[in-house]
Amino acid sequence: MTSQIKNYDEYVSAYKKSIEDPEAFWDQEAKGFTWFEAYSKVLNWDFNQAKSEWFINGKTNITYNCLDRHIKDRGDQTAILWEPNEPNDPVRKISYKQLLDEVCQCANALKSFGIKKGDRVIFYMPMVPELAIGILACARIGAVHSVVFAGFSAQALHDRINDAQAKLVVCSDYNKRGAKFIPVKKVVDEALNMGCPSIEKCLVHRNSSETVRWNWDRDIWWHHEVHKQNKTCIAERMDSEDMLFILYTSGSTGKPKGVVHTCGGYMVYTAYTFRNVFQYEDRDIYWCTADIGWITGHSYIVYGPLLNGATTLMFEGVPTFPDPGRFWAICEKHNVNQFYTAPTAIRALMAKGNEWPAQYDLSQLKVLGSVGEPINEEAWHWYNEHIGYQTAPIVDTWWQTETGGILISPLPNITDTKPTYASYPLPGIQAVLVNHEGQEIIENEVEGLLCIKHPWPSIIRTTYGDHERCKNVYFSAFPGMYFTGDGARRDKDGRIRVIGRVDDVINVSGHRMGTAEVENAINQHPKVIESAVVGFPHEIKGEGIYAYIISQNHLTDDNLKQEIIQTVAKEIGPIAKPDHIHFVEGLPKTRSGKIMRRLLRKIAAGDFDSLGDVSTLINPEIVDNLIHSRKV
Ligand code: PRX
Repeated sequence: MTSQIKNYDEYVSAYKKSIEDPEAFWDQEAKGFTWFEAYSKVLNWDFNQAKSEWFINGKTNITYNCLDRHIKDRGDQTAILWEPNEPNDPVRKISYKQLLDEVCQCANALKSFGIKKGDRVIFYMPMVPELAIGILACARIGAVHSVVFAGFSAQALHDRINDAQAKLVVCSDYNKRGAKFIPVKKVVDEALNMGCPSIEKCLVHRNSSETVRWNWDRDIWWHHEVHKQNKTCIAERMDSEDMLFILYTSGSTGKPKGVVHTCGGYMVYTAYTFRNVFQYEDRDIYWCTADIGWITGHSYIVYGPLLNGATTLMFEGVPTFPDPGRFWAICEKHNVNQFYTAPTAIRALMAKGNEWPAQYDLSQLKVLGSVGEPINEEAWHWYNEHIGYQTAPIVDTWWQTETGGILISPLPNITDTKPTYASYPLPGIQAVLVNHEGQEIIENEVEGLLCIKHPWPSIIRTTYGDHERCKNVYFSAFPGMYFTGDGARRDKDGRIRVIGRVDDVINVSGHRMGTAEVENAINQHPKVIESAVVGFPHEIKGEGIYAYIISQNHLTDDNLKQEIIQTVAKEIGPIAKPDHIHFVEGLPKTRSGKIMRRLLRKIAAGDFDSLGDVSTLINPEIVDNLIHSRKV
C-alpha cells in the first residue's frame, strides 16, 4: 500500500525527502506494490532527450495491483458502484471479486480475437462499467488501450484509430446521456467506413434493446463472446516501461497527439496521489464525475481508486438530468465522501440556484475536488458553502494529460486552501516559475511560466509514433525542464495559482482544444477563405471558442454560420463548436504573415483599451474595423 500523509509536518518532511533524494522517496512508495520481479534502478532520465524511465527492469501488472492483490481482504467489497442515467433504473455494484472475474473474461475474449501484448485497442463508449472492464482487460494482457471520448466525431475517431494503428475497436450500441440517446455504433461504423485498415474486429457492448446495423465479418457482441470465457487469466508480466495506454490530447499545432503512459511509474504515482489528495479511508465512497475518455477518468475513476482498494462511483448520465439536483441526489443516495468535478459543472449548477443542493443532505462529504481549468472565486465560494458546508476542504488539483496524475493541490485538512489557488506542489514535484528567457524566478508574488525541473513517475514518456514532437513540445522551450504550457502566479507564501494556457490551446469547459485544430475544421467549409480562432471569457465554460472568419464574397448570413458550426461538429465533435462567429474582412497580420492573436483575444474579450503595439501590422487599419464590428 502507498503511504498516507496525515498532518502538515509529515507533508513538509515527505516533500523535503522527495526533493533531496527523489529516488529513495519513490523507491519507498513503489515497495508497497506487487512486483513480479524487482526493479534494478529507480530512475534514468535526460530531459534533453525527453527521456524518463522509472523502476527500471521491474516487472509487474497494474491489474494485479488493482484487483488480485485486494481479493483476500476485500473481495466482496464494491469496487465499481454504477449509477445509471435514469435515476430509477437499477444501480450496479461490482465487487472486487466480480471485477477480477469480468476483467479476466474480457481479457480471454481479447486473446481469442488475436489481440496480443503491445497491440492497440480503441474504446469509444459511454460511461458503463464495461468501459472500465475493457481497459483493465487490455492492461491484463499487455494490450495498449486508447479511449476516445464518445462525444468526438466519426472523423476524429477515424484519425485516432489510424494514428494508433489499432486492431480492435470496442464500443456500445447506444449512449444514454440525459434525455439524449446517441447511436454510438453508427459513429464507429462511419469512422471505419472512412478507411481504417488496421481494424480487424469491433466488439459491441449492448446498452439498449434497439437494433443496430451489423457487419457479420467484423462485429462481435460483448455478451456473446465475453460471458462465455474462462474467469481466470494470468496477468501478463509487464516491464515498468511497457506502454499502458495512449490518450489523445490537443496541442497548439497540428493534429491531436497520443500521450503515452507506461505501466510502473503511472501505477505508483496515481495510487500515491489518489490516497493523499483525497485522503481516502477504507469504506469511503469516492466519486469523480469525469468521463473515462479524459485523463481524469483514467487516473481517478479507474486506476488510482482501484489501486487503493477504494469504492469508485461511476455515473452514466449528466448533471442536469432529470433535473439540476442530480449530482447532489447521487451524493446523498450513495453517501459519497469524496466528490471530484470540474469548475464548469460547478458554475452551471450554481446558475440553477441554491435550492437544488439545499434539497439534499450532503453532510457526509469530506473532500471536494476541482480539476481541469481555473476555478473562479465565485464558484469556489459557492462550492465551499452550498456543497461543502464550509467544512469539506476544496482541493483545486492542477495537472495535465501529460502529467498522468495530480502535481499541485492542497492536501485536505493538512495544507490550507485559498480560493483559486491549486496551492502547493505534491511530494516529488519540483515546480518552478520561469520568465520568457527561461530563467527561474525565485521571488514570491510573481507571475511566470510553469515548469517542472525533475521527473515524477507518471510523466509523459513520448507522443505516440513521434518522439521528436514530444521533445519539441515539452522539453525544448526551456532546456532541462518540462514546460507545462501554463502561466501561473505564486503568492507571498509560495502557493501557486494556475492562470491558464500561454500557448494556442484553449480550455473549453475543462476540455483542451487546439486553436489550429478548430481552424482546420472551419476551413473545411467551402465558403471559408481563412479563419482565426481564439478563446474568450465565458461565464459557464470558462473559455468559449471565438472564430474570426473571412468568407467568400464576404457572406455573413446566419445559414452560413450554422453550416460552419456543423462542419466543426462533423470534423471534431460538438465540444468544438464555436460559441461566437465573427465574419471579418481581414485578419491582423505581421510582416512575416503571422496572425496577431494577442490582438484577436483582446477584441474577442471586448477589451479594446489596451491593445498594445500594433505598429508591426501590415494592415493596421483592420483593427478599427474589427473593434467596430465586434461592438455591433
Ligand atoms: O491549463 C491547465 C488546465 O488544463 C490543462 C490540462 O488539460 P488536460 O490535459 O485536458 O487535463 C485536464 C485534467 C487534468 C492544464 O494545462 N488545468 C487543469 N487543472 C487545472 C487547470 N488550470 C487551472 N487550475 C487547475 N486546477
